[in-house]
Amino acid sequence: MPKHFDGMEDSNRSANADIHAVSSPARRTVVGGALGAATAAAFGSLLAGCAAPGGAPRTDGVVLGFEPVPVDTGDRVVVPRGYLAEAIVPWGEPVGAPGRMPAWRDDASNTADDQALQMGMHHDGLHYVPLDGSTRGLLVMNHEYVDDGLLHPDGMKTWSASKVRKAQAAHGVSVVEVARGADGRWAPVRPSPYARRFTAYSPFAVSGPAAGHPLMRTAADPDGRTVLGTLNNCASGMTPWGTYLSGEENFAFYFAGGEQRTADQRRWGLAARARERWAEHDERFDATKHPNEFHRFGWVVEIDPLDPASTPVKRTALGRAAHEGASVATTRDGRAVVYSGEDARFEYLYKFVSRDRIAPGGAKANRELLDHGTLYVARFDADGTGRWLPLVAGQGPLTAAAGFPDQGAVVIRSRQASDLLGGTKMDRPEWLAIDPVRREVFCTLTNNSARGTPGNPGVDAANPRANNTMGGVIRWTEDGDFDGTTFRWGHLVLAGDPANARTEARGDVRGDIFGCPDGLLFDARGVLWIQTDASATQMYQGEFRNIGNNQMLACDLRTGVIRRFLTGPVNCEVTGASLTPDFRTLFVNIQHPGETPSERSDPDAPTRFSRWPDGGTRPRSATVVIRRADGAPIGT
Ligand code: FEO
Ligand code: CA
Ligand code: CA
Ligand code: CA
Repeated sequence: MPKHFDGMEDSNRSANADIHAVSSPARRTVVGGALGAATAAAFGSLLAGCAAPGGAPRTDGVVLGFEPVPVDTGDRVVVPRGYLAEAIVPWGEPVGAPGRMPAWRDDASNTADDQALQMGMHHDGLHYVPLDGSTRGLLVMNHEYVDDGLLHPDGMKTWSASKVRKAQAAHGVSVVEVARGADGRWAPVRPSPYARRFTAYSPFAVSGPAAGHPLMRTAADPDGRTVLGTLNNCASGMTPWGTYLSGEENFAFYFAGGEQRTADQRRWGLAARARERWAEHDERFDATKHPNEFHRFGWVVEIDPLDPASTPVKRTALGRAAHEGASVATTRDGRAVVYSGEDARFEYLYKFVSRDRIAPGGAKANRELLDHGTLYVARFDADGTGRWLPLVAGQGPLTAAAGFPDQGAVVIRSRQASDLLGGTKMDRPEWLAIDPVRREVFCTLTNNSARGTPGNPGVDAANPRANNTMGGVIRWTEDGDFDGTTFRWGHLVLAGDPANARTEARGDVRGDIFGCPDGLLFDARGVLWIQTDASATQMYQGEFRNIGNNQMLACDLRTGVIRRFLTGPVNCEVTGASLTPDFRTLFVNIQHPGETPSERSDPDAPTRFSRWPDGGTRPRSATVVIRRADGAPIGT
């Protein structure tokens, strides 16, 4: 989501220690090993190139063998010379459920029932799941939020139960089958037995320590074990057993809390009036009437795209948060480690270590793997080390007297638990990416313009910029294995420093300018792909004047070179990326082309900023399929 939408949620008023109080920022550069060099370089120059790791050069990397594209402000997608880019599966196309494929109507007159069988709005996290290697597979993707100005023929001039229902149907997750034809072009396969939509009213099972908890029970679900819907699904990750993980991010914006909100509700960003006007026609989202419904969102959901009959699950052991997404690593002995950030100002970074080992046999053999294990919150210390603090009921300050009588209460109130443990309040952690060979983790910290402002936390070593409008990428390596409880960290890059413009003008190989990193994809060849999400309120002006439209860049982790690979249409966000196993096709999502600063289009002038991708009467989020004209692997 763009900055000001996310930025409304900055409810962490805990008094966790500022890292300056722990040790001197001057010690940031006194770090051993590869991260020492990275940290020193990042803090030494603040250039927008990645700092080259000082460790052994990886032998499996690739040169960034493409010509960088310049910044662009056009209403188009630009890719390097020799590459092809084509948009498929835009919002409103049928997903391909057999016998039920309502055609897109570009006056937005499709009904809620139609929308529930069509691609949702605002494409985000994305994965290609092979059915037949690199020529046929499933695209599984999130639809983060909606623009009601585009979704309904007259926008929000009137408001009704049927509009709420259509907005709910445009949220969630899509599974759509795609295949590459003889001419190399990709297209959806319709009908497909795999085609599926999950909306804000699809049934989800609840598992883990919060399942059945008193705080999860509602009048409609007295057992507290079945939730209708997932919403605000942002980033995503795949598990080694073939399931899709999706984060429920800004769920708080969908609930109305009234003027008598509790301190706990305020800590979770619950506002008196909801930003999304669902509660006016769907009482479930009125937290004054159904306060526990609010606890039933903010989870990581697990979906098995290969089993169309499977019930998706909310995995509560991973903690409740404004989860951007979830990314999975595997320990040497085969346990799963799930990293997850909370994209809100001054919130936290988490990891979950499974108790059991991943079993052979796919999703069915691992159906309880993410229900048992240990959840931790990250603390970044100023000497370049860090510690994972366990969120376990009965341990340390997490006592019954403090409001944590059981593990269900800990995971439901993970923010309050993290406040007590002293986790580091971060600059909006978004996507994570994992290098399984170097056992290194990367996380975008997209921005936080409130850092260092009156009444808010000041800078610390991990979040070193006041008024951090440009963001950066932080990296760490666990001590021992991915289940380690200590780590060493540094910054890969602090983005958008004014020095970037000069760097780029010189043609310096350090890197191309960008701001507000958000999406990440680690490519096994040693490339970290970075996507950006500067908001429509800030683009093209001030320090963003040289950056143009949001974009996707590639960082060669061996050399530290960052190179711009793609620029998106006007006022879009570039988010979600997945490569086929042969590296010859790259799928990239373009979210909200033509978004207005208010995030609500004028229904009388829906194309005011953009007509992407098809020149129609409404701009539409879509998936861009990128190939090389010569059929060779991407990026070489
Ligand atoms: Fe939905 Fe944090 O971007
Ligand atoms: Ca966005
Ligand atoms: Ca974002
Ligand atoms: Ca995001």
